[in-house]
Amino acid sequence: MKRREGQPIGGARPSRRSVLRGGLLASVALGGRLARARASVSKADDARFEALVAQMTPEEKAGQLSLFRSPKTTVIVNPEGFHQPNRAEAIEDVRQGRACGYFNGFDPAFHRALQRAAVEESRLKIPLIFAGDIVHGLATVFPIPLGEAASFDPELCRRTARIAAREAAAFGLHWTFAPAVDIARDERWGRVLEGAGEDVWLGATLAAARVRGFQGDDLRDHDSLLACPKHFAGYGAVEGGMEYNTVDISQIALRQTHLPPFHAAFAAGALSTMAAFNDISGVPCTADEALLTGLLRDEWGFRGLVISDYGGVPELIAHGYAEDEADAVIKALGAGCDVALGDDLYLRHIPELLRDGRLPQSVVDRAVLRVLRVKAALGLFEDPLRGLERDDPTPAMRLPDALALAREAAQKSIVLLKNDGDLLPLPRSGKRIAFIGPFVSSRHDVLGAWTLMSDPDHVVTLEQGVRAALGEGAEASFTPGCAADAEIDGGFAAAEAAARGADIVVLHLGEAASLSGEAASTTAILLPEVQQRLADMIVALGKPTAVILKHGRALALAGGARNAQAIVCAWFLGSQSGFALADVLFGAVSPQGRLPVSFPQSSGQEPFFYNHRPTGRPQTGPDAAFKARYREVAHEALYPFGHGLTYSRIVYGPTEASAAEIAGDGAVTVSARLKNAGPRAVVEIAQLYIHRRAAAITQPVRQLRGVLHVALAPGEEKRVEFTLRRADLAYVQPDLSLTASSGPVEVWIAPSAAGGSPASLRLA
Ligand code: BGC
Repeated sequence: MKRREGQPIGGARPSRRSVLRGGLLASVALGGRLARARASVSKADDARFEALVAQMTPEEKAGQLSLFRSPKTTVIVNPEGFHQPNRAEAIEDVRQGRACGYFNGFDPAFHRALQRAAVEESRLKIPLIFAGDIVHGLATVFPIPLGEAASFDPELCRRTARIAAREAAAFGLHWTFAPAVDIARDERWGRVLEGAGEDVWLGATLAAARVRGFQGDDLRDHDSLLACPKHFAGYGAVEGGMEYNTVDISQIALRQTHLPPFHAAFAAGALSTMAAFNDISGVPCTADEALLTGLLRDEWGFRGLVISDYGGVPELIAHGYAEDEADAVIKALGAGCDVALGDDLYLRHIPELLRDGRLPQSVVDRAVLRVLRVKAALGLFEDPLRGLERDDPTPAMRLPDALALAREAAQKSIVLLKNDGDLLPLPRSGKRIAFIGPFVSSRHDVLGAWTLMSDPDHVVTLEQGVRAALGEGAEASFTPGCAADAEIDGGFAAAEAAARGADIVVLHLGEAASLSGEAASTTAILLPEVQQRLADMIVALGKPTAVILKHGRALALAGGARNAQAIVCAWFLGSQSGFALADVLFGAVSPQGRLPVSFPQSSGQEPFFYNHRPTGRPQTGPDAAFKARYREVAHEALYPFGHGLTYSRIVYGPTEASAAEIAGDGAVTVSARLKNAGPRAVVEIAQLYIHRRAAAITQPVRQLRGVLHVALAPGEEKRVEFTLRRADLAYVQPDLSLTASSGPVEVWIAPSAAGGSPASLRLA
């Protein structure tokens, strides 16, 4: 069944009116009890499912709490060594009720056979659930989530998630392990790529949008996917940015920084979440009762299910938290981790633990009930074969609307960091342009991590995009120069010759796809050494040079890559990468993306993020002595959060507040005039920041509270207005409540976290 697309949920659309209002701030609830349990998991169904649970054997209950890798999966995103039955074993397991479902399989015919075995041959006929890591598209690949976050556009994120859900649902999937909503502030961590970057408001806003996109209007619709915001919680705070590492943070930091995107995702209707691999202050999330039950269910009122991360239950032993497998099961299930992902510990141990009384039946039953409720919310009891009708869903893949959206999303994800002398946009004719670098013609490393169905034949390379834009007779050459991390025979010499023979050089440099993502933490966020040498050599030739970066994290730019005249952040842009890049490079569209992560001066500044707490000795002015900073570099970004140029020049007037005080539940209007003083019509992303001074817990030097996408014709001026309410100024207090206590406030409307001049007001 096809439903009407939802209304835009955020990021005011460009408008012709001269005043643009943003009233979106309070729409992201950052804490508190979830407003309403979704009708789809209403308590009314509970009696029916309690009766079903009462009929189940301990083995059948253990089965409902275990989700396995699909026997047919060709997708290698997890380590071997956990439970993975072959096809015949899986069918038999299902007949015996020994599985809740399977993940990362893309064979509808086989999944149909499994589902038939479940609903026709198993004793209780409970349908299976099929899941997958559908993170940034399936056959149509959208920009990596961090790249898409650079659009600062929740509606775009909702739309791409909608198409991802449509394609995945055509393969019979019901559940995606996405969105990842971890706030990530240490760029050494490889998984920065999966989230929305370092800002809480942006993270929460995009988390909610992506949930709405995946889940659609009704989970029973055939093109809807159950969302699973992950990784709950604090995974982005792993020490030193090292993958799978420990986390030791205060409850205040957890609540103020890491939990709001989860809260927003649940408030948007997400009915599952994944427990993170990490511990928080010594308690692994998989077995953290205070987190999975105390906070999530008792405090917030969440009614969905919690799944472990892959092998998270056995890993409790390596964590030093559980004595043995049985102990791990008792601790995880007891804490509220309802389903084990990937391993068979629940399957093997629950029956025996129930029989000997070490695991209370009520603990097992409540988990099973949660699974059944979610399966019901997806309509699986009535419609178990949803999405499994076709053996070959290929005709439903990469439809024209999907590809058009992939191109639009890629265009809006591109961030122009620097454009000295207006080198960009490039002329379409009359100049010879040398495109140099390992990625100029490569079909690999375009899509990024979490592409489970990547097909190089469906990737548009930079070369293809440029040739399509310039047509026959293009005066463009394409020379790799080196591989992503190694020299190639004659590569540097050919690159030098190409550059010398050209009027303009475009260097395409960055990370191979394997350098960013899970298990891809790094000690230094630098370009691979060979590419750095290539950049230094080419830029030293003195030709006008633009650098296009391919990356899953902020990079510390140096040498030629930093000093080139123009620098473009292009992330991993997905299926339509080459077209979108050419659209921006040759000016068919103006860049409008903004950095969702700060680019530091140097790797050693990490973790470096704009919304840090103030210190007693802030670095202000040029005097560096006895100030909070490193010796070698100023304590400031090379390119700050929120930064991004357009092909025009936007001038911001001063920030003004309509009143000097917010009393009671009142509000103030914060406004500024923007003028397009340049030659082109562009979309400017105006950003509202706040700072709470003299707070009971010191507050970040700035925090984003809203954005507006402002369309401005050449010469046009518009006033942008944001409504700032008391709730927008709340922060986590010493008693952990989220309260807007009185005190001074500074507000900025600015083009980035480092721009603008503040207006002052007071919260009474
Ligand atoms: C990742 C999860 C993912 C799971 C299943 C884990 O290693 O941390 O994000 O959903 O694997 O593929």
